Amino acid sequence: MNNQSRDAEYTMGRSEEETERLIEQSQLYDDVTRRFFLRSGIAKGMKVLDVGSGAGDVALTLAEFVGPKGQVVGVDVNPDILKTAGERADAAGFSNVEFIAGDARTLELPNDFDAVVGRLVLLYMADPAETLRRLATHLCGGGIVAFQDTELALYRTITHPDTPLINQLVEWGLTVFERSGAHLNMGMELYRVFVDAGLPEPTLHFEAPMGGPEDWPGFEYLANSFRSLVPLMEAYGIATAEEVDIDTLADRIQAEVTTSKRPLLLPPHITAYTTLAS
Ligand SMILES: C[S@@+](CC[C@H](N)C(=O)[O-])C[C@H]1O[C@@H](n2cnc3c(N)ncnc32)[C@H](O)[C@@H]1O
Repeated sequence: MNNQSRDAEYTMGRSEEETERLIEQSQLYDDVTRRFFLRSGIAKGMKVLDVGSGAGDVALTLAEFVGPKGQVVGVDVNPDILKTAGERADAAGFSNVEFIAGDARTLELPNDFDAVVGRLVLLYMADPAETLRRLATHLCGGGIVAFQDTELALYRTITHPDTPLINQLVEWGLTVFERSGAHLNMGMELYRVFVDAGLPEPTLHFEAPMGGPEDWPGFEYLANSFRSLVPLMEAYGIATAEEVDIDTLADRIQAEVTTSKRPLLLPPHITAYTTLAS
């Protein structure tokens, strides 16, 4: 992990399209997150803190897990995206989900949570171990710490001579995340981060969505991820919008999968959870 003194720039930006992309991303990774919550012991009646809620997908899934007698508090530094999260929670009929704008590391929060969770948020933080150490102070005895993050450094290995377009996208994508200061190896670093935060060693899993059929939503999702990345790619001089050619990208990726017969693997996620002593 790179030693950062500052948080990473939020690589994907804050556009409305990015909010839509987060929702699309959630649909592809939803079963990974559900398996994760099931294994980690998130259960009915719990009070859970969701760190870096974004458009609210993790909080909405948590609301199903904790049921009407439980409670979910979601925190995000971006107050605008929390409006979408709040509207989605209302539309889903959850009255026990609350969103608070602010930096999860410094917000005044109660210390009676049964679990603290976060998905795709530690990779942007200067000091993930210190973040977990602070967040764990909001837990009751026996509380659960459960974080899911992406492992982009290992994603490099999907390149292959038969997939020049995917190879180029991997190169561009990893370069922009690296330049922004995000932790490319956050997934593999979760173990160290838990231990350095003084938490019990976590249980870990490694999972990634993968697909080939024309109607698989992963092609559109990867193209839309580049739509969010293009402004920073241009700012860093990595590639131009013309070179990326977003409007044809999903079709070109899908065509390469068809001709190469190599399915598209999306960035893998590593999940890590542990339980504090009671
Ligand atoms: C990639 S999004 C993930 C959203 C959501 N967890 C999901 O998986 O759909 C990361 C979110 O973390 C938020 N974030 C980053 N640093 C934060 C911090 N220090 N405190 C609270 N939120 C933060 C960003 O604003 C962004 O909405």
